Amino acid sequence: MGDLMRRYWVPVLGASEIAEPDSPQVRVQIMGEKLLAFRDTEGKPGLIDEFCSHRGVSLFFGRNEECGIRCAYHGLKFDRTGACVDVPSAPQVADRMRIKAYPCIERGGIVWAYMGPPEKQPAPPEVEWCTLPESHVFVSKRLQQSNYLQAMEGGIDTAHVSYVHKYEVDIDPMHQGVKALDYIKADGNVVFDIEKNPFGLTLYGRRNGDVDTDYWRITQWLFPWFTLIPPFGDHALGGHVWVPIDDENCWAWSINYRPAKPLNDHELAVMKAGKGIHVTYEAGVFPMSWRPKANRDNDYLIDRKAQKDKRAYSGIFGFSEQDASLQESMGPIQDRTRELLLPTDKAIVMARRMLQEAAEGLAQGIEPPALDASTQQVRAAGVLLPKGQDPKPWAKDKIQHVTGKPVYSL
Ligand code: FES
Ligand SMILES: [Fe+2]
Repeated sequence: MGDLMRRYWVPVLGASEIAEPDSPQVRVQIMGEKLLAFRDTEGKPGLIDEFCSHRGVSLFFGRNEECGIRCAYHGLKFDRTGACVDVPSAPQVADRMRIKAYPCIERGGIVWAYMGPPEKQPAPPEVEWCTLPESHVFVSKRLQQSNYLQAMEGGIDTAHVSYVHKYEVDIDPMHQGVKALDYIKADGNVVFDIEKNPFGLTLYGRRNGDVDTDYWRITQWLFPWFTLIPPFGDHALGGHVWVPIDDENCWAWSINYRPAKPLNDHELAVMKAGKGIHVTYEAGVFPMSWRPKANRDNDYLIDRKAQKDKRAYSGIFGFSEQDASLQESMGPIQDRTRELLLPTDKAIVMARRMLQEAAEGLAQGIEPPALDASTQQVRAAGVLLPKGQDPKPWAKDKIQHVTGKPVYSL
């Protein structure tokens, strides 16, 4: 699975975490690899092995200067391509002191790296929020202490919105005045129809609408780790990326964006305050853990009174905290031989199958799916259609390759 994921551009860290040329380098771990991210003197991001090729010292303790990181122990210096550009005591051996490095790009406020075979590097991602001006996008990340798949499965499981998030939508500023919430609350028995396509899966989730209509929430899963959330009323669009740190931890990236205009000051203020799909972080930890303040060590600040009073369905506040509490409670890697799936898990089953087939296929030399970034220009949607109408023909020209088209939401 790691070989498969290395064939795609991987979100690594926030561009603002290495804000300035020559600013402090940052340790990052992705898919079990201990790496070091930095911004060089020319302002270009680099992602290199954390450890010096000489005697294995962490370059976290090195100096970021003059287009490279100089190891603090004996002064070896590496540039962002991993080339060793200086061995003060033996310049003639610099060529063989190279370290691992991955090419990086910046998109949507994130530094992405390509960690696969160089000759297979795909075009940069074109998921809509990656392609918008900075003013139109807000990105945050949080640490989730579970396998990436458990986290991502929450993103393709629209059924759970009717339960754990049921009361959160009433108090969250990014979900106010949304007509569709009446349908979501009234009908938790979502019926799925799923379409496999070049970028991944489109998940059509049907709930009862009004007397003669169905309410469809159309979620996009872009292989292997993006999800796009069906929108709520006029609020900013949302999505996630789920990236393995190792087998038992992942980065849950949360993104809000407006395709045609900047996010407004109110939206930015509430997102920075951890509302909507964003979180407030545990304080006093250096370097920053990116772990939510409500986490497994404090039972996610569960409030049993709020649960009784129907202010928080599970007693936990915050969409992401609610999701994390349940998904982390399964254990770091859930034992899937013991689960008993239901019809509402159809999307999860298909996503698992697609991942497994792609990983096994790659091992046999079959190229992975969804490498054509141009197919990623899709949106999620929410729509009322006449009862019994198939949403797939409706969706064809409304939510695929949608630049410049209206957002379908209610
Ligand atoms: S360990 Fe890095 S220069 Fe010696
Ligand atoms: Fe959720």
